Amino acid sequence: MSATGRGSVQHCDSCGHELAETDPRSQCPECGGLLAIRHAPPGSSGAALRAILDARYGNRRGPYTSGVWRFADLVLPSVGDRVVSYPEGNTPLLDRPTVTAWAGAASLLLKHEGQNPTGSFKDRGMTVGVTHARRLGVTAVACASTGNTGASLAAYAALAGVPALAIVPKGKVARGKVTQLLAYGARTLMVRGDFDACLELAWEASRELGVYLLNSVNPFRLEGQKTIVLETLQQLGWEPPDWILVPAGNLGNTAAFGKALHEAREWGLIERLPRIAAVQAAGAAPFAKSFAEGFKRRHRVEAHTVATAISIGNPASYDRAVTAIRETNGVVTAVSDDEILEAKAVVDASGAGCEPASAASVAGARQLIAQGVIGKRERLVAVLTGNILKDPDAVIRYHEEAEPRPAHANRPIEIDPTLAEIERVLGLSGRGSAPSRARSPSRSP
Ligand code: F0G
Repeated sequence: MSATGRGSVQHCDSCGHELAETDPRSQCPECGGLLAIRHAPPGSSGAALRAILDARYGNRRGPYTSGVWRFADLVLPSVGDRVVSYPEGNTPLLDRPTVTAWAGAASLLLKHEGQNPTGSFKDRGMTVGVTHARRLGVTAVACASTGNTGASLAAYAALAGVPALAIVPKGKVARGKVTQLLAYGARTLMVRGDFDACLELAWEASRELGVYLLNSVNPFRLEGQKTIVLETLQQLGWEPPDWILVPAGNLGNTAAFGKALHEAREWGLIERLPRIAAVQAAGAAPFAKSFAEGFKRRHRVEAHTVATAISIGNPASYDRAVTAIRETNGVVTAVSDDEILEAKAVVDASGAGCEPASAASVAGARQLIAQGVIGKRERLVAVLTGNILKDPDAVIRYHEEAEPRPAHANRPIEIDPTLAEIERVLGLSGRGSAPSRARSPSRSP
């Protein structure tokens, strides 16, 4: 599939040590740092590369139907044709005027990653991670997860016929995600601890037991997640927005976005870098805290937020996310749970819908515009990372909350099975609605 045929290597983000692309270790053997992939430049660049990628867009058969593998030359040039793919990606860029108005923006598009096969952006990284795992011939794959990574791992492992182990924090995973873990057949371990404890355990299992780790510390996952940005740029005709806003937890996406933008400019796909705004939940905001101090030191917190997907206190991809923010002249901010839930209610009521963590990007847009960090006329893309059905309990809780009643609550109304009750609810009682009854189908001859 590759248009380049040239090699890629893994290198340590901390000490620069190089490993072969097919080395299965999860960490640098010299210093324990995280590994990253370095590709040789693709065979073409600039307009020629854009033309190749655009010619593949909309393909109806073969690997290029995937919004990840369309970019294979920039993601995993050595892949060949044996991809483990649904296909995934090709998610829409939505214009929802009510959301734009709520955020106070002139132009805000929603990149809806919740429309991936398992309902989150994780599928983009997982198709690459599991494809690579299969070519390595691993015996089992594993991840720690707040739910979405596990759901995606479980589904792609099922597709590849490889056993999957999901290590998740007990009582802190949204119902839709637990449902997927069990249904897709992952061995699901409910850990009495938080996500950070789960990730430490997953690292240990990969080192000691030889299971292949597919958290976003895995560099092949990040290569796939780059395509959220690449596809967005392509959908915009390679004219970058001014800002890309992304919910931030373990910081895999923030890091992947930075790498995607860096490479896109280096290879002439774009000439100007959009700025990244990474948005955390206030109850899980160690990265925002570091940013506020000019990244002088790394923080670790005990995480508590309604946005369970990003309830992470010690983000693994911290260093590479710092690089991404610095390189794009980006910002990091935190929004409260109330702001997240209000943004979510607005996104939901627009018909787009998303899970709580996803709405952090939209809440962040509103906050940063109000603060004057983002200009009112700037063009924004906010990434919605997960599907509305991931966390049904959060939706029900919000809409049924009595005191104080949330601004956008839409409470269900219990009635007896009579038309009079509907008339009462619609405020039609006593208006003599007989003519409309006469027109009802059940009464027509
Ligand atoms: N949004 C959603 C819906 C997520 O599931 C996650 C991460 C994020 C945002 C944050 O992305 O970690 O790359 O900064 N979920 C991981 C999981 C942790 O296990 O599913 P990040």
